[in-house]
Amino acid sequence: KKLRVGMIPADGVGREVLPAAQRILEALGPSIPKPEFTHLDAGWEYFTRHGVALPEETADALQNDCDCALFGAVGSPTHRVTGYSSPIVALRKKLSLYANVRPVHSIEGLDPRPVDMVIVRENTECLYIKQETSSHSEENGREARATRLITERASKQIGRMAFRIALSRAKPDHPASLTIVHKSNVLQLTDGLFRECVRSVMKENEEWSDGSKIAVGEQIVDSMVYRMFREPEAFDVVVAPNLYGDILSDAAAALVGSLGLVPSVNAGDTFVMGEPVHGTAPDIAGLGIVNPIAAIRSAGLMLHHLGYIEPAQKVEDAVVSVLKEGVRTRDLGGNASTEEVVAAIEKRL
Ligand code: NAI
Ligand code: MG
Repeated sequence: KKLRVGMIPADGVGREVLPAAQRILEALGPSIPKPEFTHLDAGWEYFTRHGVALPEETADALQNDCDCALFGAVGSPTHRVTGYSSPIVALRKKLSLYANVRPVHSIEGLDPRPVDMVIVRENTECLYIKQETSSHSEENGREARATRLITERASKQIGRMAFRIALSRAKPDHPASLTIVHKSNVLQLTDGLFRECVRSVMKENEEWSDGSKIAVGEQIVDSMVYRMFREPEAFDVVVAPNLYGDILSDAAAALVGSLGLVPSVNAGDTFVMGEPVHGTAPDIAGLGIVNPIAAIRSAGLMLHHLGYIEPAQKVEDAVVSVLKEGVRTRDLGGNASTEEVVAAIEKRL
């Protein structure tokens, strides 16, 4: 048996961090099925040469010939370019990757505050359906509107994912907590529906609902940001509609140092794609100094979602011990190169 991994480095530092993640997957040896990598094109630079950002061959190969994938980062033009749209957004849709899962945790001895949370962000709807219109009125001048879509189907789907993740984090003597984030005091129909749907799936599973394994709570999004900074240790699994989840997860990354550390996966029921949270980092691209850890952890998280729990833990342990040894890139105040960090993690494994 093989583990077929689609590799989509795309733009900028994506091309430096994906090879790093590949080396770490290879270094895991027989604890996972032998990985077989397929390199696939996408991104802004590809668009400038070929006129498409996500070639059909890439989507086809992922759907037909891969068990999972890793995505680097995609650059985007600052101006509007006809025909260009983000390949990552398209891939999430095509592969039904309805959840964006972002664990954020501190490292003992490195970060001043204990943080250990997982943000589970709905990945397909909310304001990201990009339905905008503009008009003009006598009174206001130009007006613009965006439609926000919340559905029962997607809200229940993300709710189930959140309960599954929460259950996996419950300890024998301590329930996991699941916080539902919304603003249903103002947006009663949309956020109200989200909240109600997440709560309703609880009844589908005895372990989710009996209270000894998962304690369910909720938090209005604005006070959520406040509390997350005041007492991040109070939160465990957090589930949110797309926009709130996007903002909360970048804010949470600030609690633990650098964007260069924070991984994510885009997950559905049949496919998972790891992706570092950071972008193409044009200011340091090509210099060999980008922090590869977010991408390496994304590979670990991908393994975890595929059920390879122990190998995923091995990756995390190796990352933490290398950080503790002081082998750190510049974003963390060190002076190690990308290569030195990768080599140190490889050696640990
Ligand atoms: P960015 O994440 O690329 O960079 C922000 C800052 O963090 C920069 O100073 C960068 O050097 C630093 N940084 C990021 N990752 C790092 C790493 N692994 N190691 C060391 N330092 C790191 O965000 P920015 O500058 O807002 O966006 C740059 C481009 O990336 C834009 O075109 C943007 O659209 C795109 N982007 C793509 C994303 C994706 O592919 N999912 C996500 C975010 C931005
Ligand atoms: Mg973001």
